[in-house]
Amino acid sequence: IYLGIDIGTSGAKTLAIDPTGKVLASASAAYGCHHPRPLWSEQDPDLWWGGVVQTVRQVMKTAKLKPGAVKGIGLSGQMHGSVFLDKSGNVLRPALLWNDQRTVAECAEIERLAGGRKRLIKMVANPALTGFQAPKILWLRNNEPRHYERLTQVLLPKDDVRRRLTGELATEVSDASGTLLLDVAKRQWSKPLLSKLGLDASLLPRCVESEEPTGTLTPQAAAELGLSTDCVVVGGAGDCAAGAVGNGVVKRGVIATSLGTSGVVFAHSDTPEVDPLGRVHTFCHAVRGKWHQMGVTLTAAGALQWFADTLCQADQAALRPSENLFEKLLVEASTAPAGAEGLYFLPYLAGERTPHADPNARGAFVGLTLKHNRGAMIRALVEGVTYALRDSLDILRELGVPMKEIRTTGGGAKSPFWRQLQADVLGVKVAAMQQDQGPAMGVALLAAVGCGEYRSIEQACSAAVSTTEPTKPVRQTKLIYDAGVATYRELYRQLSPTFN
Ligand code: XUL
Repeated sequence: IYLGIDIGTSGAKTLAIDPTGKVLASASAAYGCHHPRPLWSEQDPDLWWGGVVQTVRQVMKTAKLKPGAVKGIGLSGQMHGSVFLDKSGNVLRPALLWNDQRTVAECAEIERLAGGRKRLIKMVANPALTGFQAPKILWLRNNEPRHYERLTQVLLPKDDVRRRLTGELATEVSDASGTLLLDVAKRQWSKPLLSKLGLDASLLPRCVESEEPTGTLTPQAAAELGLSTDCVVVGGAGDCAAGAVGNGVVKRGVIATSLGTSGVVFAHSDTPEVDPLGRVHTFCHAVRGKWHQMGVTLTAAGALQWFADTLCQADQAALRPSENLFEKLLVEASTAPAGAEGLYFLPYLAGERTPHADPNARGAFVGLTLKHNRGAMIRALVEGVTYALRDSLDILRELGVPMKEIRTTGGGAKSPFWRQLQADVLGVKVAAMQQDQGPAMGVALLAAVGCGEYRSIEQACSAAVSTTEPTKPVRQTKLIYDAGVATYRELYRQLSPTFN
């Protein structure tokens, strides 16, 4: 038996699979995010550990597993976050997350120290973006020197969970790519960039390939989780690469989209292809010797969550136990026509990464009339988020990435309405997964590979991953959205001078 654990932004999830990839049980535990200032985003790492203990114990109970049954664990998690530790392993301050935008000055500082944007991209395949980890380390140095003086180690979220599971300090190539400190082409830390930034390499953990074992459980962790100390923890992957493995996106031509808190468009690549304009990221894939390119929109299903939290509290309170608020809101959206009768939504509630790299971007509803009701607003919101995915997809198209089929995952992928909307907006057929278990599934498969159950990740995916019948684009609706996306893009251009 293998466990996949995903440390998400809105909660932790654990699932157990048998050697054929069949899901035996899964459990989730929600936690919150702290926004001390408008574009700041923080979380206490203790929340992650609490979520891990709760969900692992629940999965073991539901699947009636004995402690010794679990041979391996794979870890996945929200990327780019920074856990700052002192020499005794104490967390110095709450972790800064991927959607935190406070590091504008540090991004400029990194480009300057690196000798310009082009040289930076040459060293680490990507430009400096506010969410990435390196600017967060410089932010600590510039703004909280008392913490920086005591800093001895910086970890990504899932790797802090690894530390608590195994006592080991380690990461793996896919998540390490999002620090901006990895030589992505060579799959090792970039010593030249570390030295230009004046950062000691000892701040970073060792970096392995995604299926490589990194240690076994400490007696304390094994006891707390109800597992055995023989249980191996493999490298795992950042949630984007992990989700792609869970979707079987391990070869060219198949694209993954994810509609979680963030939105992701992910393409496998056999070589480290770099966008010279730095609009999409080039990161290591969780597949040994492979890479991927991706675009990220910072607020995707997170925009619907915001809408629900802010404007649908009465509906939330009246919900029956069998009902799901998202599902109800999406049914309401489907009553409005495609194009929401001229209503547009810009989903930049936390600034935007791809394609604008603009921390100051803001959300907006534009084109409201007396006729628009709440259904039309939700439809416009979902269309706006999907246009944001189209922005990323069109850059990949321009870079010559082949795309025969999209596989979609995350909360938003469960809705047939949103899947049809994706097919129509993106102009490619969209399949969902037979067992949509997202990143947790991907890393459970990586654990199975690392423990010798399969020869390779590709083999694990072909044994365990299958899709539903794909949803095809409807020509008439696609034409409406082709016109809509042009207006959507124009709205950002027109409104961006007011976003400050
Ligand atoms: C990826 C990214 C987000 C987080 C969300 O670059 O920032 O998708 O990983 O969990």
